[in-house]
Amino acid sequence: MINMLTRDDCITCQALYDKYQLHVYQLVGARIARLYGRTGGVAADVGTGPGYLAVQLARLAGADVLALDINPAMLELAEDVVRRAGLDARVTLVQGDVHDLPWPTGSIDLLVSYTCMHHWAEPAKALSECYRVLSPGGLMIIIDARPVSARTISSFAELMPEPEYFGIIEKAYLESLSETDARAFFQEAGIPADEVTGLEPTVEDIMDCLESGEPFEIPKTSVQIDEPTLWMITTRKPLSKDSP
Ligand SMILES: C[S@@+](CC[C@H](N)C(=O)[O-])C[C@H]1O[C@@H](n2cnc3c(N)ncnc32)[C@H](O)[C@@H]1O
Repeated sequence: MINMLTRDDCITCQALYDKYQLHVYQLVGARIARLYGRTGGVAADVGTGPGYLAVQLARLAGADVLALDINPAMLELAEDVVRRAGLDARVTLVQGDVHDLPWPTGSIDLLVSYTCMHHWAEPAKALSECYRVLSPGGLMIIIDARPVSARTISSFAELMPEPEYFGIIEKAYLESLSETDARAFFQEAGIPADEVTGLEPTVEDIMDCLESGEPFEIPKTSVQIDEPTLWMITTRKPLSKDSP
């Protein structure tokens, strides 16, 4: 049973994302769209929260997006975000649990989950569900926070002076899984982890955001973070039905 955030907690999370992370969803969306390598299809954003990445997947990958979250209060916030983006027709909000996804086998071309896996009660079971719904040739991208040094945690405190925002970030990093832990869950689920990388923005990511036609700005800060703070695992489901 997960410890669900209250509506007020969800609003605080959204305020943190609004102030510090909007450009991150654009950069991550641009990276994912390039890795996906096509336009259209059906994408799922699992653990969508206020829906910011779902909006980017609709825009940058041109996909119809199923944005799923277990918490109805998050979905209420997402509803507003999607409406303001003018994407109601292309982003469908779904209440559900990653451990028991409400979609048919093989129905999702791109499945993404961003900073959610560390909340999953049974990560191997949840990964199996994500892989089950993936279509043959479909791409699954799981991204989450990785354990970081005390020095990086204090850089976050410097970056965000609001204690309520820093508290959310600190908790996520304290609860985070390492790449090794995450790989082990993939192995337990019998899913190949084709590629494990960090997620520092590249020049290509930035160029894609600048060329997307949407306003894009990386906030200026003097706070230096000198280690990777996220990992990303990508897996492409083989086209043959008989392959793992
Ligand atoms: C840290 S937030 C990240 C939200 C969003 N991906 C983002 O980065 O803006 C994690 C989200 O995962 C959702 N979540 C946690 N456990 C879940 C589960 N078992 N199934 C679906 N969603 C879940 C939470 O409700 C929350 O909205």
